[in-house]
Amino acid sequence: MEYKRNRTWSALGDEVTPEPIFRDRRRIIAAAGAAGVGLIAGAGAAHAAPTARPVPGAALKATASKYKVADPVASEEAATSYNNFYEFGTNKSDPVRYAGLMKVDPWTVTVEGECEKPGAYAVTDLVDYGKLEERIYRLRCVEAWSMVIPWVGVPMASVIDKLKPTSKAKYVAFETHLDRTSMPGVRFPVLDWPYVEGLRLDEAMNELTLMTVGLYGKALPQQNGAPLRLIVPWKYGFKSIKSVVKIRFTDTQPPTSWNLSNAREYGFYSNVNPEVDHPRWSQASERVLGGGGLSGLISRRKTDMFNGYTKQVEKLYAGMDLAKDY
Ligand code: MTE
Repeated sequence: MEYKRNRTWSALGDEVTPEPIFRDRRRIIAAAGAAGVGLIAGAGAAHAAPTARPVPGAALKATASKYKVADPVASEEAATSYNNFYEFGTNKSDPVRYAGLMKVDPWTVTVEGECEKPGAYAVTDLVDYGKLEERIYRLRCVEAWSMVIPWVGVPMASVIDKLKPTSKAKYVAFETHLDRTSMPGVRFPVLDWPYVEGLRLDEAMNELTLMTVGLYGKALPQQNGAPLRLIVPWKYGFKSIKSVVKIRFTDTQPPTSWNLSNAREYGFYSNVNPEVDHPRWSQASERVLGGGGLSGLISRRKTDMFNGYTKQVEKLYAGMDLAKDY
């Protein structure tokens, strides 16, 4: 990805050699903050207090789901140490190094706009911890690499149902936490902070869209977007916004960070599409990262339309020209 005023990523896409996939498990755990074991009492209860949810790294109970990818799952080290979370810096190793500074407890999500239940919510008010599912999804980054990761969460539709959007709601906008004292990356005008994203309401309600609280059977570490992030598996990874603090229902298409930064390169839809190249690199294939060992590169594969989820999502885009609405 390229951002305004800086060209750190100018050689991106297929040309970039991935940074070595790490190595130092202790460093990861330290950065993830106080890793506890087991659920804090009360997690899963409706209307629990803001603190009543697992701390980063704590074990989560989730049922296996039908959502699986045939390819090997990336190593946990790779998924938690090779990250994009620009609030902590633009290098892949910055999030694991710095994100532990971000306080995720207590955490409040503000819900506003076109819905019957606006207000301030604890994570446990939005996510039913008794109904967590594990879903093995490939996250396909716009930089032409992907990782297969076992995510833990609930359908976004179940969250939206609680909030009762009005008939005027056509889109859902999301916003990431912004804290200048704990996020070293936001000192730089890489993006207009806070990071914002959005989906059409029907995309957000699609069965695949996961409100995500964990990975590898544990609560999300900060570098992966604790305590609450979106995973939208048929779209490029930047749609999967991390550390969400605001959800807004709206009748107009909301602004999104990468589109604001460079509209020619990053559209609102950003569906994975091997036939629409990024202006500076091909999207026809991708490197598969983190499958094992330390090399970080296990294979190259052809990119699938909608990241392999055509059956579930093509109806959302019937009649649209996806080269225009990229
Ligand atoms: N969310 C926020 N708030 N800030 C970011 O920089 N990066 C995005 C997305 N969500 C990003 C974000 C991009 S480009 C990708 S590829 C994924 O997060 C990476 O998720 P992961 O680090 O958990 O693999």
